[in-house]
Amino acid sequence: MTLNLKNQNDILNLENLNSNEIEYIFNDKPINRLKTKPQLEDKKKLILELKSEIENIDNCELKNNATQLVFADGNSESKIMVIGEGPGQKEDEQGKPFVGDAGLLLNKMLEAIQIKRNNIYITNVVNYRPPNNRKPEPSEINRYSNFLRKHISIIDPKILILMGSTAMESLFGPKIKISKERGIWKDLIIHNKTYLTMITFHPAYLLRQAEQKKYSWADLKQIRKKIDELRISV
Ligand code: URA
Repeated sequence: MTLNLKNQNDILNLENLNSNEIEYIFNDKPINRLKTKPQLEDKKKLILELKSEIENIDNCELKNNATQLVFADGNSESKIMVIGEGPGQKEDEQGKPFVGDAGLLLNKMLEAIQIKRNNIYITNVVNYRPPNNRKPEPSEINRYSNFLRKHISIIDPKILILMGSTAMESLFGPKIKISKERGIWKDLIIHNKTYLTMITFHPAYLLRQAEQKKYSWADLKQIRKKIDELRISV
């Protein structure tokens, strides 16, 4: 919209307008006064509700043996969400996912494709450390997958990265093999919404099987390519 200033009075009126120190926006589009802030507040509220739902879980061997809940880390507004297996000793001590050796490797993997860890959102399949770092039981994976699905819906990422077979099993079921499924973009549907998903090896597995890193690198490059295509800022 352009302002037509016809005479001296119009110029004076405009000066008057500007001197009121009120921000006048001249725009043809209707103003949406309700958009962003309530959405952010809703998200924060939903995250807190989910967190307390997990804190209040009953009859759970994982919770009963762990020091504390390990819920998530990073930016809840991120378009990228990473899911690991479950907390280890360091995570259990600090209450944050991926802060031990596997976490250090995860950080390097992210840096290799120019992703800052603080700009993404990270959680796990189970939110309490399994005793002696055992793999979560199928019944535990199932139970916690309800929380995980909710968590994904709340964060609403554009790209979901599943690290390892437990994350894969939690969301795609136990019948598939990570060696076949990794490195392929998949659609994960939760509550009628489709999430673009990449399954890749878990950093703890790569620490044990260094020769598999070449596959992991191929997956990371695909993820970077998709981030660029979708113009996601990380
Ligand atoms: N391994 C995981 O899967 N998650 C963590 O948080 C740490 C190690």
